[in-house]
Amino acid sequence: MEKADSIKIRLKNVSKHFGAVKALDQITIEFAPGTMTTLLGPSGCGKTTLLRLISGLETVTSGEIWFGGEDVTELSATRRDVGMVFQSYALFPHMTVERNVGYGLRVLKTDPSEVGERVRQALKLVNLDGYQKRHPDELSGGQQQRVAVARAMVLKPKVLLFDEPLSNIDSKLRRSMRDDIRRLQKSSGITSVYVTHDQAEALAVSDEVIVINEGKIEQQGPPKSLYHLPKTAFVANFIGESNVIDATLEKDGNNKWVVLGDTRVQLPMGKNVPAQEGPIKISLRPENMHIKSENQSGIAIEGIISQSAYMGPVMEYSIDTKVGSLFTRAPAYHEQYQPNDKVFLHVNPEELIVIPTVGENRNI
Ligand SMILES: Nc1ncnc2c1ncn2[C@@H]1O[C@H](COP(=O)(O)OP(=O)(O)OP(=O)(O)O)[C@@H](O)[C@H]1O
Ligand SMILES: [Mg+2]
Repeated sequence: MEKADSIKIRLKNVSKHFGAVKALDQITIEFAPGTMTTLLGPSGCGKTTLLRLISGLETVTSGEIWFGGEDVTELSATRRDVGMVFQSYALFPHMTVERNVGYGLRVLKTDPSEVGERVRQALKLVNLDGYQKRHPDELSGGQQQRVAVARAMVLKPKVLLFDEPLSNIDSKLRRSMRDDIRRLQKSSGITSVYVTHDQAEALAVSDEVIVINEGKIEQQGPPKSLYHLPKTAFVANFIGESNVIDATLEKDGNNKWVVLGDTRVQLPMGKNVPAQEGPIKISLRPENMHIKSENQSGIAIEGIISQSAYMGPVMEYSIDTKVGSLFTRAPAYHEQYQPNDKVFLHVNPEELIVIPTVGENRNI
């Protein structure tokens, strides 16, 4: 499939209310041309609503939506040139694969000789060439979803929207379909928005991730920056696994420390920290804590194992410490610990994530 002319999607101060429910509140965002952006957030935070506003299936309460230089706020779904893939596939059960994929082209009165060839190419893209004559009930769930992807892509829309396309598919197949969708999106260059509540999927398929919480944008950025530089405790908790703990920031000239219970850790020079000394929040990821039976560094966090679980290659531990219960993992071939063992958690100061106190940390 040749590359489309990619367009930028812009939302300006978009709100959507359903009666008293503020599903989305004053959203201003841009989706860069040709990129895949994931909307990530807990159930009910407004992801599907945002997608439906972009598609035109739902109208805004206030604000504007632009596709490139065109204000599409008032345009109906059929006039926005958007392809959608839903969680439920939404194939026509009485139509063959070929008729399903060609449906939109026939509605647009495309020359029948062209329809056949474009359908075949779209099916080839999703590795289903040869399945033209089957009906949806003669396909597996994964194959049905690939037909739905082909049906959206065959129209070469300006915008592709995916609403939890893989949640009905078993986990092994999900990984390969996720990679297929990403490959197709990249090669087509169509600006795409992808909704999921699975953070691993979000990190894997996206150029950008937008974390939404209660109808508001919590943070937007490339997957790596959200993982390593979460701006709020909510994002730190939602992306990857994290122990968000209360700590105290101390400063003396250029030197900075965080105090975690009775452990005082000096921060490296370049670390960004709030201007004020005092209470802060720290995110400790399981992979950044190394569990040992001795306090080799002198700045480890002391604790007592409360739970341990054997998970094959790794052990999972919950550890009671002065800063709360911490969760971590260690390779199972290392020394293994049992409940009530005294341990020390070693943290590399470089890897401490200091959460900037931007507004209040909602939901924490
Ligand atoms: N048609 C509607 N009428 C009334 N309230 C609605 C309607 N659609 C959505 N809502 C409400 O708006 C909020 C956002 O819903 P939305 O479907 O966008 O959430 P979501 O993030 O997609 O959740 P999920 O992960 O469960 O799919 C919810 O509180 C929901 O109950
Ligand atoms: Mg939804």
